[in-house]
Amino acid sequence: MTIAEQLPPGIARGAAGTASFGGVDLAALAQAYGTPLLAFDGELFDQSVAAFRSAFGPQTDISYAAKAFLCIALARRVASRGLTLDVCSLGELRTAQAAAFPADGLRFHGCGKYDAELEAALAAGVGRIVVDNEEELERVECAAARLRRRAPILLRVNTGIEAHTHEMVRTAGESSKFGMLPPRALAAALRAAASGNLHVHGLHSHIGSQIYEPRFFSDALEPLFELAAALHGEGVAVSELVAGGGFAVRYAPDHEAPPSPADLAGRLLAALQTGARSAGVPVPQLGIEPGRALVGEAGLSLYRVLSVKNHGSKRFAIVDGSIADNPRPALYGSYHHALLAGRRSAARERETTVCGRSCEADLLVTCPLAEDLQAGDLLAICTTGAYTYSMASNYNRFAKPPVVLVESGRHHLWVRRERDDETLRYDVDT
Ligand SMILES: Cc1ncc(COP(=O)(O)O)c(C=O)c1O
Repeated sequence: MTIAEQLPPGIARGAAGTASFGGVDLAALAQAYGTPLLAFDGELFDQSVAAFRSAFGPQTDISYAAKAFLCIALARRVASRGLTLDVCSLGELRTAQAAAFPADGLRFHGCGKYDAELEAALAAGVGRIVVDNEEELERVECAAARLRRRAPILLRVNTGIEAHTHEMVRTAGESSKFGMLPPRALAAALRAAASGNLHVHGLHSHIGSQIYEPRFFSDALEPLFELAAALHGEGVAVSELVAGGGFAVRYAPDHEAPPSPADLAGRLLAALQTGARSAGVPVPQLGIEPGRALVGEAGLSLYRVLSVKNHGSKRFAIVDGSIADNPRPALYGSYHHALLAGRRSAARERETTVCGRSCEADLLVTCPLAEDLQAGDLLAICTTGAYTYSMASNYNRFAKPPVVLVESGRHHLWVRRERDDETLRYDVDT
């Protein structure tokens, strides 16, 4: 089987040759909603949630990282599946509120929160604010005092664990802007523990994204336990340790399988027990924050080919999407598997560079596609559930695509297509 014939999860090819996702024929989906569009397979999402829950057990706080992708309908589903939600902006907070997400299940993140955000998070009654730095700690304390609340906080620790992943998504180590190095985190935690406006629940680490080796996550717990031991010695209890997200996703059918939730849980839950024992502290509650591992495979972008051209030995297919709806390949050199969605082809395959239509060299992917690929064909770009729609822009004043839920052969709109005239909506026409 060639790589172009291998199908990522949720995709099947019917007798007529068209591909389906979530049991919905992609040609019919394109007909119903137009292209480009993002299809979201609710069943794949549910399966990922169930796999994490069964591996990590009921005691672990599994917080979905909304930055990977959020809309009101997804926030509702996250709540109904018993997860908490990591939000990091007023927009994400408002989305959660519009979905009536239970406030105590919200964790407010970010390395540059401004006062209005802190006050909105506190007023909303979020369950935790993850404090990134000492200046922010002061501002959280002041905001809590202004609102006469006690802010429930975690302190983000830069554990120094530099995982093997793309430097743009590595979030620990001295070259990373995130969190506090352990000595500063210790001082901040002691200061916070002495404040009547703050309640320190625990420590937080997130070392990066698309990490394949589970040992990096358990290694990151070690410095957290050293801090927990030091705080315990000062009479400050650390009842929660959050190991963050970053669990890898398979972006191409022939890529190595990432660690399963069971592998990750085995490693992290064991590290939690041994860490607590050697630190001489009670076993804290574990928290994890998967983003892409829950939604990456659940997303599929559907495009129409606008033209196919040959430049010498190179073949390009230009589609009706672009860097505006999927910046990941341009940003990180990410791979997204492409397949012919609207028909089957018996033609030989030929290396093809699938490009967007923006005024950039926005190469979406280079992979083998049928020699007879032509304008009008539908192309599916797979595993686009995470960090595509949420990172989409209006570059070239392109309107954003819709998001359509596909599930057990049915479909409905989660987010409608932006209208072209809406790309002008902030202009002040003086
Ligand atoms: C604090 C935090 N937690 C969790 C995540 C989710 O990472 P991933 O989608 O790779 O699981 C991120 C991603 O940036 C993050 O910053």
